[in-house]
Amino acid sequence: MAAATILVLNGPNLNLLGVREPDTYGRETLADIEEACLERAAELDLAVDFRQSNHEGQLVDWIQEARETADGIVLNAGAYTHSSIAVLDALRASELPIVEVHLSNIHRREKYRWRSYVSEAAQGMICGFGAHGYLLALDAIARLLKRD
Ligand code: DQA
Repeated sequence: MAAATILVLNGPNLNLLGVREPDTYGRETLADIEEACLERAAELDLAVDFRQSNHEGQLVDWIQEARETADGIVLNAGAYTHSSIAVLDALRASELPIVEVHLSNIHRREKYRWRSYVSEAAQGMICGFGAHGYLLALDAIARLLKRD
């Protein structure tokens, strides 16, 4: 059987990881995180489709496509987490298992980051563990897929 495919989707400004507010987001780049995800996915017998966009509509398009091309979604929607009903609607329409991830602990930060629209469509959320959170999210989604 072909390995299940997980879309690991990253939203705005995450292309700047490594240089962007390293005290908050760490020193690992998005390429480092992609590499770590590919390694973990191989251990879990998953395939990973790793993407980043700064554009809300592009994220919506990719989530819509995932309905046909992926078995689950790991999503760090960046600031769109706190604002995008369009991303939420696309996630709901995907009918896929979704794990939300954030590098920082959004509940320890400014009040406007406490609200997550993504959480309304996600099975669960991992935040505050930096880049390691992506690996925890892959573990979680592998387990969700096994349960189905
Ligand atoms: C983030 C948290 C968001 O509030 C912020 O806008 C980001 C990154 C995180 O990974 O900690 O861009 O999603």
